[in-house]
Amino acid sequence: MIRTPNLVLIGFMGTGKSAVGRTCATQLGFPYHDTDTWISRRVRKPISQIFAENGEAFFRDCERDAVRELSVRSAIVLSTGGGVVLDPENTRMLRESGIVVLLTATVETILARVGGRGSRPLLQSDDPESRIRALLLERDSAYRAAADAVVDTSDLTREEVAEQVVALYQGGAH
Ligand code: S3P
Repeated sequence: MIRTPNLVLIGFMGTGKSAVGRTCATQLGFPYHDTDTWISRRVRKPISQIFAENGEAFFRDCERDAVRELSVRSAIVLSTGGGVVLDPENTRMLRESGIVVLLTATVETILARVGGRGSRPLLQSDDPESRIRALLLERDSAYRAAADAVVDTSDLTREEVAEQVVALYQGGAH
């Protein structure tokens, strides 16, 4: 049997992976999954509480388990946490599982989208903008190396992004 590739969304916090992923899943008729949701259910705590009580290393272990379990499924849309590409093994599994689309946004857009919600433990800082810039710089090459295609979401609606992502998936993104 030929396996139907997954549609995998990667990218920084606030680039719209979850919202766009859900819309793409509806359009493709695929189930929607999200590594953060998988981890929260498994550990029975919100992500912010996992970071606070168990630490980032524990979270990253759970994230690897989530990728291992979800990437072997087929015909799903999978949104991932912004740090998933920090582990090359995650990147390898995700790339093997389907088409990987990177969502990007400007620092200003990211700040506006994540600002004030307090749910991103890595952005709990007096200067979230500098934190975003530093993390983006650190991660940019890993994001790009993992991606089959890139969509800049800064000036697009969720529907417009989803339309482009679905077209990339259906075109095989090559
Ligand atoms: C993280 C991003 C978050 C979540 C965790 C760590 C990161 O997911 O996995 O807080 O390292 O960038 P979103 O990208 O969905 O916000």
